[in-house]
Amino acid sequence: MELSALDKKRMPVHVALVMDGNGRWAQRRGLPRTDGHAAGEEALLDTVWGALDAGIRYITVYAFSTENWKRPVDEVRFLMGFNERLLMTRRDELDAKGVKVQFLGRRDWRVPKRVLKRIVETEEMTRDNTAMTLSMAFNYGGRAELVDAVRQIAASGIKPDKIDEKTIRQHLYDPTMPDPELMVRTSGEYRISNFLLWELAYSELVFTDVLWPDFRRGDLYAAIDEYQRRDRRFGGLSDADGS
Ligand code: IPE
Ligand code: IPE
Ligand code: MG
Repeated sequence: MELSALDKKRMPVHVALVMDGNGRWAQRRGLPRTDGHAAGEEALLDTVWGALDAGIRYITVYAFSTENWKRPVDEVRFLMGFNERLLMTRRDELDAKGVKVQFLGRRDWRVPKRVLKRIVETEEMTRDNTAMTLSMAFNYGGRAELVDAVRQIAASGIKPDKIDEKTIRQHLYDPTMPDPELMVRTSGEYRISNFLLWELAYSELVFTDVLWPDFRRGDLYAAIDEYQRRDRRFGGLSDADGS
């Protein structure tokens, strides 16, 4: 789908993506699963540039979950190195285009020091960019994010009856990030897999059979087109019904 086919006035501010299907993409070609992860790099970059052209302000991608540590050590090692390399080779380009790169996830648990160092460097380098925020959900789990928030809230000594939704929001990994209006998952799996549990409360969910390495900006626009056809009610009535 072309960008020109979308309604400019109803673009989502924040799109979240579950980049799934790398392993199957590789297996179908008789390649090792890790080749599928490598092929996902082009999909990610094309999607990011496509989002930038569309004026989307926030893109959040699921790159490595807290559950992905269950995978074979070789695959985990590959993914750590792959994400580190991706940062090193792409951050200048992202920076030049005004993309702020940030990481959402547990930093003090399991992530190799060297990878963490690159993460922090990249965040510092791109901190003041304003064209778009690209959040990499890395060593990320929605439940872990909520556990981390609850720990901080408990440690702050706040009175239980003073805790409300705003308090929880303020302790998420990025308290300023608006909730995604749209979440897209590739590869024909119909689940959340512990992604952005708090933030997705009222997101529109779009699922596509496209495997992540084959995903391109046109697929992003097709998902946005589907989003634009949805009637978002937030528990109320749709505009057409009056209120
Ligand atoms: C998504 O692709 C990438 C990560 C989870 C890191 P998968 O590796 O899950 O690919 P499939 O689902 O096995 O095909
Ligand atoms: C979700 O995909 C995590 C990422 C894309 C990083 P998985 O492939 O890990 O999810 P499940 O195991 O199919 O639920
Ligand atoms: Mg998968």
